[in-house]
Amino acid sequence: MGTKENKFAELSNIIRERHSIRHYDPDFKISEDEIREIIKEAVYAPSGNNLQSWRFLIITDQKLKEKIFTASNDQKQVLEASALIIVLGDLKGYEQVELIYTRSVKEGIVTEKFKNAKVAKVKNTFEKETSRYGNPNWKRDLVLIDGSLAAMQLMLAAKAKGYDTVPMIGYNTEQLRKILNIPDRYVNVLMIPIGKAAQPAHRTIRLSVDEITFWNGIE
Ligand SMILES: Cc1cc2nc3c(=O)[nH]c(=O)nc-3n(C[C@H](O)[C@H](O)[C@H](O)COP(=O)(O)O)c2cc1C
Repeated sequence: MGTKENKFAELSNIIRERHSIRHYDPDFKISEDEIREIIKEAVYAPSGNNLQSWRFLIITDQKLKEKIFTASNDQKQVLEASALIIVLGDLKGYEQVELIYTRSVKEGIVTEKFKNAKVAKVKNTFEKETSRYGNPNWKRDLVLIDGSLAAMQLMLAAKAKGYDTVPMIGYNTEQLRKILNIPDRYVNVLMIPIGKAAQPAHRTIRLSVDEITFWNGIE
């Protein structure tokens, strides 16, 4: 990796090469190892208290894909993509706090004292606070944010590995949850078909920076 400019250009290339692909080569199969490698990068995303509440449900079974296709307004990418990565947020993800911070102590990242304080604080907050900063949906919002950050990184990591994706919420959530028996503790974040493009994406435009940016207040 070279200069600062090179790094920015490399990242910019990957960002701009990613497009939502809706036609996939149905004969191409991505390996489980490659999906694992992509997820491994995705989870370097930041998360609240480093609780990493994202979860990934991978669907490769064609029969399941067919059922999900019906629950997704017959969107073709669901049938044709090599796999579907269903990104979920775990409302009980905070229960991993002890594990996460015990490992952090072992790695010499935090002290035992820091860990104990963090574990107590997180458990207390998640178990007792029904509303936080005036937001009664704070737990759901948090896992949606964590999951979305990981999902974005996942799509960029996939692109850097030569794969294509499309983020989707265009499906009947209740039907999808029924088909896959998703327990209540998991919130749907996004569904991401992944595979090899059979047709290029249609181009999309972006609003200019000045059209979407406010400085020091909204007029
Ligand atoms: C939250 C969200 C939901 C989306 N749902 C769908 C979907 O159900 N089906 C679909 O074909 N594309 C879906 N998209 C893809 C968008 O249409 C696409 O990202 C947008 O048009 C920009 O194009 P690009 O991704 O190629 O840059 C979704 C994107 C986001 C972020």
